[in-house]
Amino acid sequence: MIPISAPLLGAEEKEAVLAVLDSGQLAQGPRVEAFEQAFAAYCGVKHAIATSSGTTALQTAVLAHGIGPGDEVVTTPFTFIASANAVVSSSAKPVFVDIDERSYNMDPRLIEGAITLRTKAILPVHIFGNPCQMDLIVEIAARHGLVVIEDACQAHGATVHGKKVGSFDTGCFSFYPTKNITTAEGGMITTDDDELADRARLIRSHGQRQRYYHESIGYNFRMTEIQAAIGLVQLGKLDRFVQARRTNAAYLTSRLRGVLTPVEAPGCRHAYHQYTIRVAEGRDRLAQHLRAQGIATGVYYPLPVHKQVAYQKLGYTDCLPVAEKACEQVLSLPVHPGLSGADLDQIVEGVNGRWS
Ligand SMILES: Cc1ncc(COP(=O)(O)O)c(C=O)c1O
Repeated sequence: MIPISAPLLGAEEKEAVLAVLDSGQLAQGPRVEAFEQAFAAYCGVKHAIATSSGTTALQTAVLAHGIGPGDEVVTTPFTFIASANAVVSSSAKPVFVDIDERSYNMDPRLIEGAITLRTKAILPVHIFGNPCQMDLIVEIAARHGLVVIEDACQAHGATVHGKKVGSFDTGCFSFYPTKNITTAEGGMITTDDDELADRARLIRSHGQRQRYYHESIGYNFRMTEIQAAIGLVQLGKLDRFVQARRTNAAYLTSRLRGVLTPVEAPGCRHAYHQYTIRVAEGRDRLAQHLRAQGIATGVYYPLPVHKQVAYQKLGYTDCLPVAEKACEQVLSLPVHPGLSGADLDQIVEGVNGRWS
């Protein structure tokens, strides 16, 4: 079976992990700091703060911006639930705007209509690794005095006019095993803001600057040395991985027939965390057909966040037709760097063959 994702870990990662085990220092230490510095340099920002996951990176970013009860955050319903849950976990309210039907990212034309006196932030998600229209989003945020928290959990290495995602204000990344690089579990916050970075570091570690002296409420959202050691090696491979994803994506796009293939806006570099096609009719039949041909696929996402039972219980009754329709039609195909030329041809034949 051709898997939908496959972490690429080799001898270097194994050696790095063994070196940590030999060192005796397992919890957050010098490797976490080195990974943070390398990641900040990669994104072109002053600070990177490592966390235990992408979810805790988002939670920390929301908390560090002082977003709490009574506040609203404008975001997308077409995402993994963690993007919105990070807002809910601060007792603030996610306000969903519909998406653009080709990029699947939040539609910037709808943002201003969702802004109220309670709005504190815009939280765009670079879904599938395809960067949002950050120039427009940053401009709207500046006009309304809002912060921007980028959910770049799927978009390591994506750029907008040469500028890395995660460098526009506050960025959040995930290193879950399916992501473009992995640390098993792990996350990172990126920012140029010294004070925000300081608050995020405190939140990550029980509000303590000095051991057993706690100056603010915080949590244990720390990354381990083992995770950071893997991350340092993986970061060195990120550009190669993204390039391989882009090459695979270009091959698929040039050959697939009868389905809508992904788009890349002018000036943007899509990191192809997922290669997501759109099938007007029979998406599930195509997925079954591909499975029978030995090709795994994924539906990201079958239900938008506002339609999830958890959000219905919170009282959400939104009608966001573009996101809801996308959930019925999207299908992600394998695009990861572990694919061979034969795998790609098998995927093309599977999609282009008779299946309906
Ligand atoms: C868009 C998005 N946001 C947030 C997360 C949460 O990251 P993690 O699984 O590392 O907590 C993910 C990971 O799946 C994601 O895809």
